[in-house]
Amino acid sequence: MSTSGTSLLKGKRVLLGVTGGIAAYKVAHLARLMVAAGADVRVVMTDAATRFVGPDTFAALTGNPVHTTVWDEPGTVLHVRLAHEVDLAVVAPATANVLSKLAQGIADDLLTSTLLESRCPVVVAPAMHTGMWDHPATCASVEALEARGVTIVGPVAGPLAAGDEGMGRMSEPEEILAAVEAVAARSTELAGRRIVVTAGPTHEPLDPVRFIGNRSSGRMGVAVAAEAHARGADVTLVLGPGAVTPPAGLHVMRVETAEQMRDAVVSAAKDADAVVMAAAVADFRPERVAEGKLKKEAGPPEVRLVPTPDILKELGESKGDRVLVGFAAETSELEASGRRKLLAKNLDLVVVNEVGREGTGFGFETNDAMILTRDGDDEPLRTWAKRELAAAICDRLAKRFG
Ligand SMILES: Cc1cc2nc3c(=O)[nH]c(=O)nc-3n(C[C@H](O)[C@H](O)[C@H](O)COP(=O)(O)O)c2cc1C
Repeated sequence: MSTSGTSLLKGKRVLLGVTGGIAAYKVAHLARLMVAAGADVRVVMTDAATRFVGPDTFAALTGNPVHTTVWDEPGTVLHVRLAHEVDLAVVAPATANVLSKLAQGIADDLLTSTLLESRCPVVVAPAMHTGMWDHPATCASVEALEARGVTIVGPVAGPLAAGDEGMGRMSEPEEILAAVEAVAARSTELAGRRIVVTAGPTHEPLDPVRFIGNRSSGRMGVAVAAEAHARGADVTLVLGPGAVTPPAGLHVMRVETAEQMRDAVVSAAKDADAVVMAAAVADFRPERVAEGKLKKEAGPPEVRLVPTPDILKELGESKGDRVLVGFAAETSELEASGRRKLLAKNLDLVVVNEVGREGTGFGFETNDAMILTRDGDDEPLRTWAKRELAAAICDRLAKRFG
C-alpha cells in the first residue's frame, strides 16, 4: 500500500492486463488492492487468462466491463480507445508468451494491440516455470523491455505450478502494487520539462566508405532518455549512428558526425530545461574527406586530424538556467579528472566512467562509474546497471526542478 498515506493511484486510470498463467487467480486480489487505492481499473484478459479466472470476477471487483477481444466494441476501436484513456498499464501475471510478444511488437489480441498503441508507463509481473524464465528468448525479451523503460517486478523463487519449486513465481500482489505506485509517482516527476539527451558514437568520415568511430553502443544515453520519458519529460534524443533502437515516444534526431551532433544539440537545447550529454563524441576528425574511396594501391594515406567542436564547453558557456550533465570516460584518477571537468565545462553533474578494464564501459550492460555534482549529491565509484545509473541521474534532475 501507499507509503505516504494518500494513495498515489487515486484517480489514475490503470489498465490491468491478465494473461494465461496459474497466478491469474492472485491478480484478482491485485485488482482489489488497486481499486481500494483509488484507481479506476480496466481489465483486459487474454483468451488463455479466461481459462484460469472468469472475467466476471474482475468486472465485479473493478466495477468496469472486462474486455477480451479487439472485436468487443469495433465501433470505438477498443484497443485505441483503451490505449489513449489509461495513465498506466500493469500486466500480471505476464506469461513468457506475452513478454516475447511485447518485446517484438506483436499485436494479435486486445492486450498486445492496446499496449503497442499506448505510450503510458508499463509494469509487468512475470510468472512462469524456471525453464521458461531462464530461456535465452525470455531473457532477451526482458532485456529489450527494460531498455524501453518497462518496469519488471519479480519474479521470485518459491513454489510453482505442478508441485515444482524454483525461480519464476509471481511477486505477491502487495509488492506489485508498491511497484505500480512507485511508477505512478515517478511518471509525473519530470512532467513539463524538456530534456535533450545525446547517445551513441559519432562517425567521422575518411572517404565515402570509411570513418573513424568508437565502441559506444548508445545504451547509456538511450537509458537516460527512456527514464526521463518514463518520468513524464518531453525528451529529444540526439542519436549517433549504429546505436541501439530507442523506445517509442521520444523525438529522435539522427546524426552521423560530431559537427551534426553539435548543430542538433545546440538547436534542441535552446528551449530545454536540461541537457544530458551521454554520447561518445569524437574529439578529432580527419581534416580532409577524400571524394573517392581511398585506394589500397596508392599506399597508406597520411591522415591529419583536427579537433571537432567541443559541444559540452559550448553549452556550458551559454548555460543560463539549464541543467547540464556530462560524461567523462577515464582510465585513472577518476575523481580528480571528473571534478576538473565539472568546473571547466560549467556542468551541474558529471558521470565519471571507468573505462579500459575488461567488462566495463562501452558496449556493456553495466557501467563502473561515480557521480560528481556541484551540490555534493555524489555517488562513489561502483558498478551500475545502465538503467539504474539513468535513474540516479533523473533523480537528481527531478530534485533540481522539484
Ligand atoms: C495449467 C497451465 C498453467 C500455465 N502457467 C503458465 C505460467 O505461469 N506462465 C506462462 O508463461 N505460461 C503458462 N502456461 C502456458 C500459457 O498459458 C500459454 O503459453 C498461453 O499461450 C499464454 O497465452 P497468453 O500469453 O496470451 O495469455 C500455462 C498453461 C497451463 C495449461
